[in-house]
Amino acid sequence: MAPLLEVRNLTVAFDTPSGTVHAVNDVSYTIEEGETLGIVGESGSGKSVHALSMVGLIATPPGRIVRGEVVFNGRDLLKLSQRELLDLRGKEIGFVFQDPMTSLNPVLTVERQIAEPLKRHFGMTSAQARARVIELLELVGIPDAARRAGQYPHEFSGGMRQRVMIAIGISCNPKLLIADEATTALDVTVQAQILDLVRDLKRKIGTTVIWITHDMGVVAGLADTVQVMYGGRIMERGPVRSVFHDPRSAYTWGLLKSLPHGGKRGVTRLYQIPGNPPDLTRDPIGDPFAPRNPFATDRCKVETPPLVDAADSVAGHKVAAWYDLRAALATQEARP
Ligand SMILES: Nc1ncnc2c1ncn2[C@@H]1O[C@H](COP(=O)(O)OP(=O)(O)OP(=O)(O)O)[C@@H](O)[C@H]1O
Ligand SMILES: [Mg+2]
Repeated sequence: MAPLLEVRNLTVAFDTPSGTVHAVNDVSYTIEEGETLGIVGESGSGKSVHALSMVGLIATPPGRIVRGEVVFNGRDLLKLSQRELLDLRGKEIGFVFQDPMTSLNPVLTVERQIAEPLKRHFGMTSAQARARVIELLELVGIPDAARRAGQYPHEFSGGMRQRVMIAIGISCNPKLLIADEATTALDVTVQAQILDLVRDLKRKIGTTVIWITHDMGVVAGLADTVQVMYGGRIMERGPVRSVFHDPRSAYTWGLLKSLPHGGKRGVTRLYQIPGNPPDLTRDPIGDPFAPRNPFATDRCKVETPPLVDAADSVAGHKVAAWYDLRAALATQEARP
């Protein structure tokens, strides 16, 4: 069966007064129907830009899709008109973004905001839309849904607003749900509830999910596949267990090492990978992580490693690295 989404060589740049920012560089991957893909990487690694550019949501200019294809359900989204994209967004591809306070309209009731895409995409009447709004609010775990529907965003707590955003994201039963830092601003308990909710929804309606986050713990609990991005590139990708237990990219290894052990998540101070994020205005040549990678070879600095199958690993585990992390770590351990 063809994958639900196939991204091929997606390359996105921003033309700015201080030069061209190479935000997304030659990103290729596929997602199967029903799969949950977790995308991680530190700030500025291109996670949001890559997702937004797939559905025509980056401002052009300054943004520019340099090349690539994004085949969703057999169609190249990068070739669609604004009108076709408008039809697609919210209906076939749902979104949940961080910060529901700015994403929700403060002067419209929650009901109006959830009902709008239902009326637009399915031509529902107000009564039909209202029934569906209440059903959705119940589905995302908002108590007293019929009364709450008539309230304004400021009458909801942060966690409840995020649930409203999820209700909007899934309102049209999208084939693909893209969540970008959807739980980052929430406290740990509410975050856990939202993740339970997403797992539940996947069971009930079988949605395919792209979950973008800084939090490796969230990925471990939610995703089938993890994709690690750095400097606008995919550094490593594969089944969550394999990547977490047997990372092959020094960047992934650094991220995993930075996870707090013991104690409650988010309480322990994180280990930081030494060095600075890459300067994206430089030509994207070589392995972007090379300057911070203790195991980098000369080749890493001058030639970009392709994303290829990791040696002696499970199917689908891929890495972009010229060095051999396992060998390098073994040598390091053997040192006195
Ligand atoms: N409108 C813009 N103009 C210029 N550069 C931009 C613009 N939008 C994004 N960028 C740059 O593109 C790069 C990738 O940004 P992106 O938002 O995708 O990162 P991210 O991985 O989502 O980070 P975060 O985890 O902080 O959300 C960054 O260097 C960012 O500064
Ligand atoms: Mg982002």
